[in-house]
Amino acid sequence: MHKNIFNYPLSYASALEHAVNKFHKAGISNPVIDAKALLCGVSDFSNATLILRGNDIIPQIELEKFWKFVKRRLSGEPIAYILKRKEFWSLDFSVDNSTLIPRPDSEILVEAVIDFIREIDIEKPKILDLGTGSGCLLIAILSELPEAVGFGVDISKAASKVAKTNAKRHELDSRAFFFVGDWAEPINSYVDLIISNPPYIKNQDRKTLAKDIIEFEPNKALFAGKDGLDSYRAIASDIRRILHPGGRIFVEIGAGQSEEVKKIFYDKGFYLVGTWHDLAGIERCMGFATTKLKKN
Ligand SMILES: C[S@@+](CC[C@H](N)C(=O)[O-])C[C@H]1O[C@@H](n2cnc3c(N)ncnc32)[C@H](O)[C@@H]1O
Repeated sequence: MHKNIFNYPLSYASALEHAVNKFHKAGISNPVIDAKALLCGVSDFSNATLILRGNDIIPQIELEKFWKFVKRRLSGEPIAYILKRKEFWSLDFSVDNSTLIPRPDSEILVEAVIDFIREIDIEKPKILDLGTGSGCLLIAILSELPEAVGFGVDISKAASKVAKTNAKRHELDSRAFFFVGDWAEPINSYVDLIISNPPYIKNQDRKTLAKDIIEFEPNKALFAGKDGLDSYRAIASDIRRILHPGGRIFVEIGAGQSEEVKKIFYDKGFYLVGTWHDLAGIERCMGFATTKLKKN
């Protein structure tokens, strides 16, 4: 149990300092960033306002809320779940413990898909996102492509609800539709493009994950069998029936999975069209086509 660390009255700067010290002692890796994020979250300040208003006395109601947030962070809960939001592709997304917290690495897939759609000439492209979670990938893509229409599927009813809220929040609910189901199972008509960031962690790697991931993020979003490849196998087996001839699938992959994922899609008759690396130089996204690309 953590004792109440804040006595009233207290300035914003002192409240921040107390929280930073607590986080530092608890071994939290970004104590200043986390404390600032929580204080800005309760006060609705930007980082700049927090500096400008540092000597102001924090209202008691905000201080109490800040204290509750600090305690939750000390228990290991990720900032995104405490604040119920996460930025992705410079857009603000609602998240809760039914959804994976969007990762910056997934922006690689968004970029690859946007480049592809801009390159091809399809009127009103239809995009299907398998394992949509918060809907962050699909919504980011639709926000850049005013003609595109999107469909998101998730096995989690709660996650699907969050995705709908996010589509509405970004005024994309007239072009983004969400379904609950097992991968492509609820979809029965053709789409031009499929995207997926499926679970890809091996079951036995559970012990290697950080506490804020394993204790707070949904298992359904993380694990994919003994070798971490079950989701790719399930997806590759079912999508031909709904992917237009010439259509493509872009998937996010885990570190070191590219050869195995390539084999899974090759075995189902797909052709590799590209591999994209994340900022750490790790192969993070792969694209496959239903037909072989013509050479110029
Ligand atoms: C790694 S998370 C990705 C979420 C989101 N697309 C993102 O990039 O942040 C994988 C998602 O797949 C969903 N999922 C797991 N198994 C599924 C299945 N059999 N059918 C549909 N969705 C599934 C999980 O609920 C989770 O939301």
